[in-house]
Amino acid sequence: MRLTRQEIGLGERSYNVVVASDFRGLGAELRGVQEGDRCVVVSNPTVGALYGAVVRRELEAEGWKVEELEIPDGEAHKNLQTWGRLVEALVNLGVDRTTPVLALGGGVTGDIVGFAAATVMRGIPFVQVPTTLLAMVDASVGGKTGVNTEAGKNLVGSFYQPVLVWAALKSLESLAEVDLRSGLGEVVKHALIEGEVALADCERMAPALLQRDPEGLAKVIEASIRTKARLVEADEREAGPRAVLNLGHTLGHAIETVGGYGRLGHGEAVGLGILAVARFGWGRGWLTERELPQRIHGLLGRMGLPQKLPFEADAGALARAIGFDKKRARGMLKIVVPQAPGEVVLRKLTMEEVPALVDALKRLG
Ligand SMILES: NC(=O)c1ccc[n+]([C@@H]2O[C@H](COP(=O)([O-])OP(=O)(O)OC[C@H]3O[C@@H](n4cnc5c(N)ncnc54)[C@H](O)[C@@H]3O)[C@@H](O)[C@H]2O)c1
Ligand SMILES: [Zn+2]
Repeated sequence: MRLTRQEIGLGERSYNVVVASDFRGLGAELRGVQEGDRCVVVSNPTVGALYGAVVRRELEAEGWKVEELEIPDGEAHKNLQTWGRLVEALVNLGVDRTTPVLALGGGVTGDIVGFAAATVMRGIPFVQVPTTLLAMVDASVGGKTGVNTEAGKNLVGSFYQPVLVWAALKSLESLAEVDLRSGLGEVVKHALIEGEVALADCERMAPALLQRDPEGLAKVIEASIRTKARLVEADEREAGPRAVLNLGHTLGHAIETVGGYGRLGHGEAVGLGILAVARFGWGRGWLTERELPQRIHGLLGRMGLPQKLPFEADAGALARAIGFDKKRARGMLKIVVPQAPGEVVLRKLTMEEVPALVDALKRLG
C-alpha cells in the first residue's frame, strides 16, 4: 500500500497532502488534525454513488459521526446558487467551528465546498478529498476556493486553506477519459514550470499515464504537488511568484468561455493555452529554448490532449473573453510565458496586442 505525505508549509495554516492507494486511513488522519466527533461529507451524485459509502465507512471506523450533503454535478452548477444552498444546508445541520466539512469530488466540488467552508460561521475546517486527476494535482492544493458568475470564471471566492488533502489513487480508475486528459493538462503545466527533469519525465511517462499506470500517476501527482506547494508557500495570496501557475489559463479560460463550459475539459483548454502562448512568445523572440513550442505540441499529442481548437471560434469573442479575464490590470494584460522548461515568466501585453495572441491560438494546427 502506498502512502506519501507532503507538507504545505504556511505557518499556522500548514497542512499535509496525502497521496494514498485508497481511502484507508483517512479517518485516522483526520483525527490527527481535527478534534470533534462529527463531520460532513459533501459530494455530487456521480462521485457520491462511487465513493460515498467507502469514505463514510472509513470515517465511521474512526468514530466520526458522518452527515452527507449533495450538490449537483458539473461546472454549470459552480455558481452562487449552489453555494447558497450548501451554506444554508450546513447551517441547518448545526455545524460549528469544530465540524470538518469534506469535499469529495473533483475541482468543482472542492471549489464550491471550500468557499462554503470559508464563509459558514466565518470559517469551519475544510478537507479536500480530490477524486479527479485535475483536483489532485492542482485544485485541491493551495486554498483557492470560489464560484463562477455570469461575467466569468472564479470571480467570487476566497483564499481558504484546507486542514488536510487526501488523494486516493484508486478513485482515478473510474474517471472518464476526458477528465484523465484534463488532469494531464495541468500536469504538463506544472512540469514546464518545474524544469527539464520534470518535463522529460512527462514525455517519457505519457503512454503509461494514459494507461492509468498507478506508479506513473503517483509519481506525476507527487511532483505536481511539490511544484504547487513551493509556489503557494512562497506566495499564498498570489501577489507575485504564484501567478506563474496561471500558465495557459488566460487563453484556456477564453476557450472555455467561448466554447461553452464543458466543450473541452478545463485542462485540455489549458494545454491549448500553453501551446498558443509558447507560439506567441516564439514569434516575439522571447523563448530561450526555441524548440519549446514543438516540444509542447509533441507532449500534448503523447498525452492525448488536443493540439488545436476542436471548434471554430470567433476571434472577436475570444479577445473579448480575454479582456474580461481578471488578469487584466489597468489596460495591460498579464500573461504567463514559458520561455524554456523551468523558465516561466510573467509578461505584460497592451490590449492592442491581444489580437496577435488570439491569432496564435486560432492558427494552431
Ligand atoms: N482552486 C484551484 O486552485 C483550482 C485549480 C484548478 C482548477 N480549478 C477548478 O476545478 C474545476 C475543474 O475540476 P475537475 O476537472 O475535477 O472537474 P469536475 O469536478 O467537474 O469533475 C469532472 C467530472 O468527473 C466526475 N468525477 C469526479 N471524480 C470522479 C471519479 N473518481 N470517477 C468518475 N467520475 C468522477 C465529476 O462528477 C464530474 O462530472 C474548474 O471549475 C476549475 O476552475 C480550481
Ligand atoms: Zn487550471
